[in-house]
Amino acid sequence: MYSRIAGTGSYLPEKVLTNFDLEKMVDTSDEWIRTRTGIERRHIAAEHETTSDLAYRAAVAAMDSAGVDGSDIDLVLVGTTTPDLVFPNVGCLLQERLGIRNGPAFSLEAACSGFIYGLTVADAMLKSGQARRALVVGAETMSRIVDWTERETCVLFGDGAGAVVLEASDEPGIVYAKLGADGRYRDLLYASSGVSKPKEEGESGLLRMKGNEVFKVAVKTLETMVDEVLESNRLDKGEIDWLIPHQANIRIIQATAKRLQMPMERVVLTVAEHGNTSAASVPLALDVAVRDGRVKRGDLLLLEAFGGGFTWGAVLVRY
Ligand code: ACO
Repeated sequence: MYSRIAGTGSYLPEKVLTNFDLEKMVDTSDEWIRTRTGIERRHIAAEHETTSDLAYRAAVAAMDSAGVDGSDIDLVLVGTTTPDLVFPNVGCLLQERLGIRNGPAFSLEAACSGFIYGLTVADAMLKSGQARRALVVGAETMSRIVDWTERETCVLFGDGAGAVVLEASDEPGIVYAKLGADGRYRDLLYASSGVSKPKEEGESGLLRMKGNEVFKVAVKTLETMVDEVLESNRLDKGEIDWLIPHQANIRIIQATAKRLQMPMERVVLTVAEHGNTSAASVPLALDVAVRDGRVKRGDLLLLEAFGGGFTWGAVLVRY
């Protein structure tokens, strides 16, 4: 028994914030942002828009492309670190709006790796017969936890959502999934307040990051991870058709592609359009490449992410 991706969807909020807009808000430049990160613009949720609103739009698109409705889904799993509420979880909020009445619904926090974690958990649940068809979403409103006065971080993040419908299948599908985490790096990238930890005196309570240290660990971890993926699956470099990476920084993505000896034409890049949308970025990039015809049925895809925690993960998919 395997699970396979039956449909994809994504959504970006209407409001666009360009690098030039940011020049007016903090001491930065379009040139600095583009050369260091590859980002040109990001989308920002409207005041009334929440993570579940973005997730809903992406989920509807994914369900349409899979040709299913709420009665066909029996598992909802949302990767997010910016949920609407403490509870009900975003999965339950989605379940209600989409008319899904069967099976569990939950969200899972793994920062930028949230979708990869969610896909891996859903795959395991489908393989073990606990569900037949899952809606797996990555959705974030990072703009709500970014410090808009801090140039080191505010230029990097954006809001968005991506989703897939994953269904039980006799054929692959997901052929391999591997997750990792190392909590010793908790202080390199974190939100400095939360539900049970109030913000400290003199703290903003918002996202904090030691960017260049994150960069180094991200590159090294992703390189080790892709080596493991190739080895465990007895794949030669060059056998993967598409790399669909977490869209945080073009230089991190280039380093991973180099390790795989993949030309950048085989890497799906959307970071310029929306910056780092955390858990949303991998399904967003996947949906873009499916809809523009680059990713075709039968292609071998490597989806990977790295994020706060640190957390990381890779999923190999025969699309
Ligand atoms: N505009 C202009 N100058 C800036 C900006 C900005 N927005 N931000 C920082 N600078 C300045 C710094 O103050 C520093 O100035 P100084 O030399 O006078 O002290 C200089 O630019 C260099 O700063 P560094 O932090 O060393 O720059 P670096 O080359 O490391 O690039 C960046 C910074 C883009 C954050 C990079 O480290 C990075 O991408 N790290 C990964 C972070 C990331 O992606 N995190 C997301 C979650 S984890 C993940 O998804 C992989």
